[in-house]
Amino acid sequence: MSRDSLTVTDNRTGRSYEIPIDGNAIRATDLAKIRVSDDARGLFSYDPAFMNTASCRSRITYIDGDKGILLYRGYPIEQVAERSSFLETAYLLLKGELPSAESLEHFTTNIRHHTIVHENIKNFMEGFRYDAHPMGMLVATVGALSTFYTDAKRVRDPESRRIQTHRLIAKMPTIAAFAYRHTMGLPYVYPDNELSYTGNFLSMMFRMTEARFTPNPVLEHALDVLFILHADHEQNCSTSAMRSIGSSQVDPFSALAGACAALYGPLHGGANEAVLRMLKEIGSAEQVPAFIEGVKRGERRLMGFGHRVYKNYDPRGRIIKQLSEEVFEVTGRNALIDIATEVERIALQDPYFIERKLYPNVDFYTGLIYEAMAFPVDMFPVLFAIGRTAGWIAQWLEMIQDEEQKIARPRQIYLGSPRRDYVALEDRAKA
Ligand code: CMC
Repeated sequence: MSRDSLTVTDNRTGRSYEIPIDGNAIRATDLAKIRVSDDARGLFSYDPAFMNTASCRSRITYIDGDKGILLYRGYPIEQVAERSSFLETAYLLLKGELPSAESLEHFTTNIRHHTIVHENIKNFMEGFRYDAHPMGMLVATVGALSTFYTDAKRVRDPESRRIQTHRLIAKMPTIAAFAYRHTMGLPYVYPDNELSYTGNFLSMMFRMTEARFTPNPVLEHALDVLFILHADHEQNCSTSAMRSIGSSQVDPFSALAGACAALYGPLHGGANEAVLRMLKEIGSAEQVPAFIEGVKRGERRLMGFGHRVYKNYDPRGRIIKQLSEEVFEVTGRNALIDIATEVERIALQDPYFIERKLYPNVDFYTGLIYEAMAFPVDMFPVLFAIGRTAGWIAQWLEMIQDEEQKIARPRQIYLGSPRRDYVALEDRAKA
């Protein structure tokens, strides 16, 4: 019997099975050799919401949720946020190593080269209703990109993958800004490639009649750091969607549209939007205790709190809190910060939150910064998506090149009716 194995004894038959352990995991397919009934099927593992199931081996991002550690390719998030730019971080996530100065220049030039979108994309976006949610527009428009770049279907071709990667990272800010301009009824602003990745995004968002937009360096840096902090977070809901959809070997634009859709939900990337709405609804620091009581009675969730993996402070939360001070020096203090601070103070000393290890997550303070920077609430998940695009693609590239991966296809435990014969319409009982 191997030391790195698990012995399972079936009490009904007395039979023992040896299941190898590799990297702290057993293979769920090894359970299939345990016979549970007379038919050919073996034992399944049942894990709704993937609470304890690894779906891949990855070398991209490491999280220790109990200790509050987050590493990108081994580098602590605090160091990456302090010393890197978003494009450098994207390179690190995609390629596994920090770029040399020359490689970074080359990568940046490639991204710049692809920031423009086809004019038909602009026309396509004009078809949305005046009040369309920008995240809905993003989901649809990223999906539509697949019809413009039919070469993207060649997912087995490394050169095609390289070009689609550049296109996606370059065009996400353009589409995001166009979505915003559409809802505002403002003319679209074309990319200014003299600016940084993030500076150009701010220009496409906020340029009005001036010939040239000059981003405020503090705000440009803050947003760049926020993109870094959102760039990857291992196998979360949207990343799993990206991998799962991509496992069908569909083009990356279609897969990324699915990832954006997953991010849109209020339990995921929509949470920063939900936090802002919640803080506005609370209205004042005095109302916080009553609101928290409602949360404890199960009437609602405290948005921006809790995480599937972090059972400690989210390390990104600390960086964001510090960043918010820098931003508020430029923009003025966001009045909601007092309510947010009070929510955090009260929640962190309440047994309900302590026992469940519910701490503020990345979304708790980001909305306050975005709002101070004049982004409308609807744009918050879109900003998340711009940063996360780097991670989605890095994870997709890893999945495509992983020989162990196949089309994602979970099993089920069937609870429905056993076989029965079809009943003609006239013979069915009236409802
Ligand atoms: N407010 C109140 N109670 C909560 C909260 C919350 N925000 N989060 C979890 N709980 C309670 C939950 O009711 C449950 O209590 P009990 O054991 O009595 O039933 C317990 O804590 C465990 O919660 P869970 O729902 O089993 O935990 P999960 O891992 O399935 O959910 C989560 C994780 C992030 C979806 C959840 O904490 C949540 O809904 N948070 C609010 C939304 C949010 O801020 N989302 C952003 C996540 S971070 C960024 C991202 O990934 O996009």
